[in-house]
Amino acid sequence: MKNSYALITGASSGIGLEIARNFAKKGYNLVLTARRKDLLENIASDISAENNIHVDIISKDLSLKNSTNEIFEFCESKNYQIEILVNNAGYGIKTSFDKTSVEDEEKFVRVLGTSVIMLTKLFIPKMIENGFGKIMIVSSVAAFAAPSAIQPLYGPIKTFMNRFSDSINVNYKHKGISSTALCPGFTITGFHTASGVQDEMDRVPRFLVFSAKRIADEAVEATLAGKSLCVPTFTYKFLVFTLQYLPRGIINALGKLLAPGRYDKQ
Ligand SMILES: NC(=O)c1ccc[n+]([C@@H]2O[C@H](COP(=O)([O-])OP(=O)(O)OC[C@H]3O[C@@H](n4cnc5c(N)ncnc54)[C@H](OP(=O)(O)O)[C@@H]3O)[C@@H](O)[C@H]2O)c1
Repeated sequence: MKNSYALITGASSGIGLEIARNFAKKGYNLVLTARRKDLLENIASDISAENNIHVDIISKDLSLKNSTNEIFEFCESKNYQIEILVNNAGYGIKTSFDKTSVEDEEKFVRVLGTSVIMLTKLFIPKMIENGFGKIMIVSSVAAFAAPSAIQPLYGPIKTFMNRFSDSINVNYKHKGISSTALCPGFTITGFHTASGVQDEMDRVPRFLVFSAKRIADEAVEATLAGKSLCVPTFTYKFLVFTLQYLPRGIINALGKLLAPGRYDKQ
């Protein structure tokens, strides 16, 4: 059994759960975190039994300011050496921007942005000391695409995360640390139901929709290989490449055609 641990946020479902399964198969011990404790407990006992690895859990709400410190202190107290940090937790806000509270937006930015920065900040010193560390930041094709049908802040925060991931590479690659920005397209997970957009997801053409396992498998390989960007599947590689050269007006029209948003109904 390896002595190294992978810490995965948002491991109770979807892409995070599949990433956990993949690392477990490779023999990594795991620390899994999310809010739903019962779910995490069941997942942990299944994964550890199947793979003969140690799996621990810590249930935390990343929209709360202290959660990242508490996760770090938990790992320190147990002497877990976090070699791989997967910042995956995320969701979309159900309500349209003009109707949310400031607190709704603050929580959103904390889960998808601030907590990613804080966890990276907390765990990177040990990685530097060890001369080795792999970070994965689960971003999205939305970082490159037309303004999001999920809600106005979603695309911008993912773009920010891509840039943050790039910064980590620029500053720490020579110290043995790499950061991989994972940019999936539409993926079958609990995300769209949790974000109130399952109907819109059901209208997305099938050739644009992939399984969470497919995304996770490509993501883990890219992270272990130290790639700075991972856009899983040829379909989305082609789309993201094209998005970088098309005029904005065409991108917006394509976005409406392929992934009409819920605000169209209002
Ligand atoms: N599905 C897609 O089409 C798609 C496409 C591109 C990018 N992504 C990104 O992929 C990542 C994973 O999402 P998914 O698609 O796998 O969705 P999912 O199945 O809904 O998983 C989201 C995970 O995040 C956790 N989470 C949500 N809010 C949290 C909070 N406040 N505190 C702690 N954990 C929280 C959830 O756990 P609990 O509810 O138990 O807390 C769950 O484990 C997200 O960053 C998302 O933006 C998804």
